[in-house]
Amino acid sequence: MDYKIAVIPGDGIGPEIVGASIKVLDKIAEKFNHTFNYTEVLAGGAAIDACDNPLPQETVDICLDSDAVLLGALGGPKWDNLPGDKRPEAGLLGLRKSLGLYANLRPAILYEELKAACPLKPEIIGEGLDIMVVRELTGDVYFGEKGRDGDFAAWDIMKYTRPEVLRIAKKAFEIAMKRDKKVTNVDKANVLEVSRFWRSCVEEVAKDYPEVELNHLYVDNAAMQLVINPKQFDVIVTGNLFGDILSDEASMITGSIGMLPSASMADGKFGMFEPIHGSAPDIANQDKANPIATIVSVAMMLRYSLDLIAEADAIEAAVKKTLAQGYRTGDIFSAGMALVGTTQMGQKIIDNL
Ligand code: NAI
Ligand code: MG
Repeated sequence: MDYKIAVIPGDGIGPEIVGASIKVLDKIAEKFNHTFNYTEVLAGGAAIDACDNPLPQETVDICLDSDAVLLGALGGPKWDNLPGDKRPEAGLLGLRKSLGLYANLRPAILYEELKAACPLKPEIIGEGLDIMVVRELTGDVYFGEKGRDGDFAAWDIMKYTRPEVLRIAKKAFEIAMKRDKKVTNVDKANVLEVSRFWRSCVEEVAKDYPEVELNHLYVDNAAMQLVINPKQFDVIVTGNLFGDILSDEASMITGSIGMLPSASMADGKFGMFEPIHGSAPDIANQDKANPIATIVSVAMMLRYSLDLIAEADAIEAAVKKTLAQGYRTGDIFSAGMALVGTTQMGQKIIDNL
């Protein structure tokens, strides 16, 4: 089959990790007899440099005309002093918004082979960890009214509408049905009106899924529980801001932020796939970045958007095998393992395919 994929390498380590991932995808194409047609487009810092706009309309159009979008990471210190709407983040947030991608799925899986890289005690990890964070992407303080009163005050309004909460809750329950049938809703309902509203909407959706167990945690407690008792979690559903923070926390219990993929989805098959980490300017252009988060994001793309399940399984198996062989980038390195760079890690994964 032929597939159209929009590719946004982005800034910092973006081009390196996306480059390694495209090579993996090319190997899949060869092995399984597919054609992936890539169209490279600009967003974030690279787009600001090229056309003074973090999200050119052409980028949105090409993404919408594709089966899926693969993104590296956007941003970096070079663009930090630009005003809010001109910054690289405006490109990322605008992209998710204009593509209507409201659900961010972040599976935090601790690979057996990386137990040594997990900062938690073995008795807390047990047999391993597998948590799916379902983060709402189009609402919350990131998109509420913003304001500033000179050098005296500033504000970002935290707001959610009923349809926004209902659809993300439904997504979480649908995912839980295919997993261990447990949803933990995370909010701050003891203090925030928006959370009390959010919680009542989640409870409304829960009525349609009697098989799924629902519980609620305040976000501060959830942050603590992720570290002291992560095995209690199956699917976590939460808003944009809390989800941003908790999913990074969940990523660390699984070894490194360099390991974790994400999918941003709407109701249909179309989605955008990206690692959860940023552009890591501290290690950019040094062949040091771990490409695995992006490579397994490609696996998610094959699974969720293109329905290529065997192909996705093959990538994940090749990653596991490569880790089992002892190859490690710096972020997951431990004594006795073989230290490799971005290119070599990608090549080992291709060899294992
Ligand atoms: P970051 O995720 O880029 O880096 C945090 C730390 O993790 C750094 O020490 C970095 O070297 C390390 N790291 C990240 N990815 C890695 C990988 N694949 N392999 C090995 N080490 C890795 O977060 P930071 O430093 O807060 O942000 C840097 C820039 O990235 C900023 O401009 C920020 O706005 C942007 N950013 C972009 C995101 C996106 O495009 N989705 C998400 C988060 C940040
Ligand atoms: Mg983040």
